[in-house]
Amino acid sequence: MSQEGIQRAGGELMTGDGADALITRGLLRGAGVPSELIGDRPVIGIANTWSELNPCNGGLRDIAAHVKRGVIAAGGIPLEFPTISLGEAFTRPSSMYLRNLLAMDTEEMISSSPIDGVVLLGGCDKTLPAQIMGAVSADKPAIGLAAGPRPLSRWAGADMSIDDLWPLLDKRRTGELNDTSWAELEACLSCGVGTCNVMGTAITMAVVAEVLGMSLPGSALLPADSPARATIAEATGAHAVAHVESGITPTQFITTAALENAFRVICAVGGSTNAVLHLQAIAGRLGLGIDIEDMRRLSAETPFLADVKPSGRMFLHDLQADGGVPALMGVMAPLQDLSALAGNGRPWRHSARPMSESSNCLTSLDDPKGAPGTLAVLTGSLAPRGALLKASAATPGLYRHVGPAVVFDGVEDLRARIDDPDLLIEADSVLVLRGAGPLGGPGMPEVGHLPIPTRLLDKGVTDMVRISDARMSGTATGTVVLHVSPESEAGGPLALVRDGDLIALDVDGLRLDLLVDERELRQRSRRPTSLRKKARGYDHLYRHHVLQADQGCDFDFLRGDHD
Ligand code: FES
Repeated sequence: MSQEGIQRAGGELMTGDGADALITRGLLRGAGVPSELIGDRPVIGIANTWSELNPCNGGLRDIAAHVKRGVIAAGGIPLEFPTISLGEAFTRPSSMYLRNLLAMDTEEMISSSPIDGVVLLGGCDKTLPAQIMGAVSADKPAIGLAAGPRPLSRWAGADMSIDDLWPLLDKRRTGELNDTSWAELEACLSCGVGTCNVMGTAITMAVVAEVLGMSLPGSALLPADSPARATIAEATGAHAVAHVESGITPTQFITTAALENAFRVICAVGGSTNAVLHLQAIAGRLGLGIDIEDMRRLSAETPFLADVKPSGRMFLHDLQADGGVPALMGVMAPLQDLSALAGNGRPWRHSARPMSESSNCLTSLDDPKGAPGTLAVLTGSLAPRGALLKASAATPGLYRHVGPAVVFDGVEDLRARIDDPDLLIEADSVLVLRGAGPLGGPGMPEVGHLPIPTRLLDKGVTDMVRISDARMSGTATGTVVLHVSPESEAGGPLALVRDGDLIALDVDGLRLDLLVDERELRQRSRRPTSLRKKARGYDHLYRHHVLQADQGCDFDFLRGDHD
């Protein structure tokens, strides 16, 4: 089959009759690829983050086989290649520290390989956003497929999702969970491959990818073990070929409208705060911005619509049964710009579906699950460039709170002292963790969900105001202020806080303030920055180029506005 008119990225390497093409095609033939067809057919790379060091993506090796079938059936040639893969639980100091490396790996492999388009197979938290960032910068035709959520566990006779783990970890700290139960808990977490099974970061990013047009409508919530995944994987492969034929690339369809649609959907599902960082990084790659005022406007006009955990009560399969992202886009139609393209290459208005009358988990704009403002973007003297709080997962009684700071300098200090019986702390104290931002962490580890001291847990305290320049798992809940920018290591005011200083949080007023006199603050010295630390290799690159949270922690030289 001849594909006339298609711009072939492989150029002379795949289609020419010189020495380079002879060697390239000859080597492919040796590997079993029908290279005599390559000159005529689009070559589709399959960037696969399958890895035994990343069980969340453990199903992607099998999925790649189905994608290949779809590519071949549509007249293309599939060539699968590996990139690095980042498993949340397996990567230190944090997977976020390496997200940009995976993005660079993906971009360079797409750009430098003789492929005409690419299918991105990702899943665990950082893999999908990094792949999208890389694909946007490479700007060849691209489409993705997320790994899908893993099955639920069973614990104490009931279904258990990953967010249920957090209170159990607290019970272990207070001694309520004995060694036998602890061992049972480990066994019950072994419920199969796939990503975390609530609206945590991985699934929020799968939803974001679907809304952005980076995956097919209806794909984000399909469980990792669903038989329907084979079909959608084949369709994804076929659409990759179609995208090459039409010549459409990510920079053409990830527009400001698409980015705003995605941000509203994050709000509507009570999605992960991490997804905001990734969306800001993707926008930055395009030379587009989502600033504080944009986020506040979008959050203020979007109610909480999906009663799904961790912000709500129900499971992902309930949202999927209600129609998944296409139904969500249908419900949100008055808010969304449905001229933005879906992954099938058509405007979203063709894929958005009306809400079913039997919907359980998805609610309507007229009768939402919760009020607008699920994501509170705070500013104030403690966060001049912003901080984030997932209001839908916080305690309303703490929305307005003034309390004395208890300060921890980094994760080691936190671990060493949080349960110290001599620690001066009460239920109204404000826990502050610094030195855990993009530079300080490094990589903003997910430690912003500071543990409540066991002494207070024993007294029945279940939530406290917690503030940091770190991130938290998208599966966690609580009155947790994250991503304080600038971070302490970059000279932000968090560095000046002392034990006992009063801090005021006002979620409705979108404020976070340090109630200390300015003259007093000027006299306090700032901590040295980590740029003075010795660094080599990737660490050197990271420390000299990583941006703050309000710019998505991308590297400065990878942004679209970098010259
Ligand atoms: Fe991989 Fe949650 S740890 S998706």
